[in-house]
Amino acid sequence: MSALVVVGAQWGDEGKGKVVDLYAPYADLVVRYAGGANAGHTLVVDGEKLILHLIPSGILHERAKCVVGQGTVIDPAVFLKEIEALNERGVTTQSRLLVSPRAHVVLPHHKLIDTLREKKSNAAIGTTKRGIGPCYEDKVARRGIRMGDLLDAERLRSKVEANLECWRPVAEDLGSGLPSANEIVGEYAELGETLAAYIGDATALVSASIRADENILLEGAQGTMLDIDNGTYPFVTSSNAVAGGACAGAGIGPTQIRRAIGIAKAYATRVGGGPFPTELHNEPGQQLRDAGAEYGSTTGRPRRCGWLDLVALRHAVAVNGLDELAITKLDVLSAVPQLEICVAYELDGVRLRYPPYERIDAAQPVYETLEGWSEDISSCRARNELPPAAQRYLARIEREVDCQVGVISVGPDREDTAELRNPFDA
Ligand code: IMP
Repeated sequence: MSALVVVGAQWGDEGKGKVVDLYAPYADLVVRYAGGANAGHTLVVDGEKLILHLIPSGILHERAKCVVGQGTVIDPAVFLKEIEALNERGVTTQSRLLVSPRAHVVLPHHKLIDTLREKKSNAAIGTTKRGIGPCYEDKVARRGIRMGDLLDAERLRSKVEANLECWRPVAEDLGSGLPSANEIVGEYAELGETLAAYIGDATALVSASIRADENILLEGAQGTMLDIDNGTYPFVTSSNAVAGGACAGAGIGPTQIRRAIGIAKAYATRVGGGPFPTELHNEPGQQLRDAGAEYGSTTGRPRRCGWLDLVALRHAVAVNGLDELAITKLDVLSAVPQLEICVAYELDGVRLRYPPYERIDAAQPVYETLEGWSEDISSCRARNELPPAAQRYLARIEREVDCQVGVISVGPDREDTAELRNPFDA
């Protein structure tokens, strides 16, 4: 048995979609274990862009079966749209894609409340407004609606009616009404009917795959610094994005996961509010945004850009137990003549190697300057083909965070990748 987990090691948008897409040809099963349509995994196939929010990127590889596990929250209309878009491109989904009946359903009022709260709050989190927070709130309060409920209209009705009553005072407080139970049940029971063939015993499929000694790829969403328990709370998402989240969210035991691979961009970005010590508000920040096309794949928002934060990355190596890093968008740094990396924070005169649990926004980054490079590196396929300054940059990361770099992404296409090998062989 060989299960490995791929997680975001920063604030999301690290390029997990591309890395999972590269690893998927070696996998028998790809399982998404957390988050919902807040994620946007951009894939470039034959020069054409495809963004998946819910379905694992592994779906593009015929060999792999794909599971959307119980740790996720599903917007069924988005799920259906993705199935249709894939089918239009000739990608088969029938018999290859299964969503857990235990996964929770994002309802219209989750999205409404998420949006209204963001509008009203003067300390907005900057959510994706996809209803993620309210849906996970229902799950934890034990009043959520699950994908399996879509298959039984009567059960769905009684749960939706009870659920709406819980949200009514919240909506009123925000100056809004709620959709009626009839509207919701009508739309969602129909979606359930359409999606029935895709809702099935995902737990049994994962267990069978483990017993059959298959290669399982556990696909994370968002990133470590957005994890509800390990991130920059409260400016986080509402699920466990870290490697440990894969156990509960996919239904796999910790002893069955053999490796954890962290994806990190060669610099740092963040969307939405919250602390970001290495953020650049000046010309180099805009240079990174332009060169890296740093605009959200789900919301289109410009991403905040900054220097690589090794304090955050060290934390990610620790809390995920990372065995290896995949560094993405190294090519973007070719546009920057002189590079800074943040090796520590300073807070109240104390030097910190790991992020504090509070007041990260008051932390001052401690930078070291490294020489940049200007060569086009997109055709490099091995580490030793990179310019010496780029090799030194990677070596410095490894030394600071005590984790080896494996795959290096040097451009958006699948082919623009150095040091690619079968991750299950390691
Ligand atoms: P939510 O997950 O929509 O509730 O948003 C909470 C925070 O996580 C916000 O700062 C979002 O911008 C951020 N976030 C959620 N999903 C992603 C993602 O896939 N990439 C980057 N940031 C994300």
